[in-house]
Amino acid sequence: MLRKIFKWSGIVLAALLILTLVAYAGISLNVHNRMQERYRYTVAPVTILSDSVSLLKGAHLLAIKGCYECHGTQMSGKIIADDGMIGRVSAANLTRGRGGLPADYTSEDWFRALQHGIGKDGRPLVLMPAQETAMMSESDMAAIIAYCNRLPPVNNQLPPTSIGPAARILAFFDKIPLLPVEKIDHLRTLDKVADTLEGIGQGKYLAASCSGCHGADLKGGEALLPGMLPAPDLSAGGNTGKWTQAQFIYTLRTGTTPSGHPMKNEDMPWQMTARYTDKELASLYQYFRSLK
Ligand code: HEC
Ligand code: HEC
Repeated sequence: MLRKIFKWSGIVLAALLILTLVAYAGISLNVHNRMQERYRYTVAPVTILSDSVSLLKGAHLLAIKGCYECHGTQMSGKIIADDGMIGRVSAANLTRGRGGLPADYTSEDWFRALQHGIGKDGRPLVLMPAQETAMMSESDMAAIIAYCNRLPPVNNQLPPTSIGPAARILAFFDKIPLLPVEKIDHLRTLDKVADTLEGIGQGKYLAASCSGCHGADLKGGEALLPGMLPAPDLSAGGNTGKWTQAQFIYTLRTGTTPSGHPMKNEDMPWQMTARYTDKELASLYQYFRSLK
């Protein structure tokens, strides 16, 4: 009797194992095929002004949009993940040094990356938050390009990106934005210039950089990757509804909430929000408070 039970449970376990392997093979192939897809988008030529105002704006945008967090303090690229389950992810060297952008990388190529989430050859960019950069105005993108065109060349050859099993499974179930090209509305036309007046309009524009973690409606989002913290509700229903504007600004400058809770930069990128101007943080506060 016992032997029979053991035999049957052995068969059931083996069948489950095979099913799991087959399911994983299907998932892995699906993600592989999506990464092999090639996209074509034409972008309108835009004049890139390199006057001092544009360059200053570009420098500020790189800091507040988190570009340095992934591409490194010199924009010369960085390995942002390297483990067996997630895989190895290289954020590109965006200087013109060895291992950096090719000599024939044009402004149109820059727009294709920021606006559509694709590389020069039309391949989908992996884990580059283009669903967020695509919401930037044309003049902000142009300022970023102007600034990056002036970056001192840094030689840094990065290993190719390879996506591990956990990241494939999460991407298959749409839990991580592995291929932002699939998330972008490619027919949307860019705003020419963003609202820069302090208030709800500017806050809404800037909040595109928060929605990846705090949720599209900013009412809280799941943890980005297993082991990370979920991102809290930023609307009037959350702490923003209780904090004064000064407390809100203090939190995003220091990474410590009014109740004394220190946030880790890996969880909540406060070193990035610390670089926002007072006016920009005030606008974010006013926008979040307007969300009921
Ligand atoms: C969360 C990390 C992350 C952030 C933040 C980020 N990037 Fe990236 N970026 C990546 C990764 C990873 C790649 C490489 C994608 C690939 O090769 O598939 C990339 C690729 C790019 C490329 C494409 C280069 C090429 O090979 O065509 C450009 C351009 C770029 N990033 C610009 C920016 C700018 C500008 C910012 C700030 C507004 C920014 N990135 C913010 C992760 C990031
Ligand atoms: C990479 C994901 C990520 C991004 C991007 C991000 N946040 Fe967060 N944020 C978090 C997480 C996770 C926490 C919770 C941290 C903790 O409790 O230690 C948090 C906490 C906060 C808090 C404290 C809220 C509370 O109730 O304690 C504020 C305010 C905040 N974020 C604002 C912003 C703003 C504004 C932006 C955009 C400019 C932004 N965040 C972008 C992940 C993110």
